Amino acid sequence: MEGDIIEIGAFKGGGTVKLAKFAKKYGKKVYVIDIFEPSLDQTISKSGVTAFEVYQAYLGGRSMLEVYQEATRAFDNIITIKEDSMNVRFGQQTRFIFGFIDGCHQQAYIENDFNIIWPNLVSGGVLGCHDYQFDDWPEVTPAVDRLIDEHKSEIAEAHQIVGSYGISSILLIKK
Ligand SMILES: C[S@@+](CC[C@H](N)C(=O)[O-])C[C@H]1O[C@@H](n2cnc3c(N)ncnc32)[C@H](O)[C@@H]1O
Repeated sequence: MEGDIIEIGAFKGGGTVKLAKFAKKYGKKVYVIDIFEPSLDQTISKSGVTAFEVYQAYLGGRSMLEVYQEATRAFDNIITIKEDSMNVRFGQQTRFIFGFIDGCHQQAYIENDFNIIWPNLVSGGVLGCHDYQFDDWPEVTPAVDRLIDEHKSEIAEAHQIVGSYGISSILLIKK
């Protein structure tokens, strides 16, 4: 298929590296959108912990951007967009075969991030959303369910995948 890959929410670049390795085999690029500023994500989990606190704990005092840059520096097929995803849109000429949403877990952001990817996703392309079902981020499930309902005539298949810690992702294949 013609098109590139997009990841919204990269954090330390762990997923980005996997996507970039895969993309390189097929001569494709990975667009990455992340704000790279932990303090700007104050989403509060069900247990009362903020996303900011979670990021800080995993970063152990290091800069998110530096950790990400170190992890991804071997790749020349990554286009990093350091921006609040609310401010990002692509022209129609940018096509995606796969997009992964794992940025801010608030309803407005899930909707926004879906709308960054979906209009530019090719037929047969896949949109994935992490934390579709995860107690800590309860806004994701209703937001994604609403989007699925709104776009049901454009969706060929939906698959839920249960990963580690019982966190599930959802994959939507576009007609
Ligand atoms: C759960 S982490 C992503 C984990 C990553 N996908 C991985 O494979 O490890 C969420 C990321 O979303 C980013 N983020 C939060 N709010 C954002 C926003 N408004 N715009 C862009 N990125 C945002 C955070 O900076 C953080 O890196």
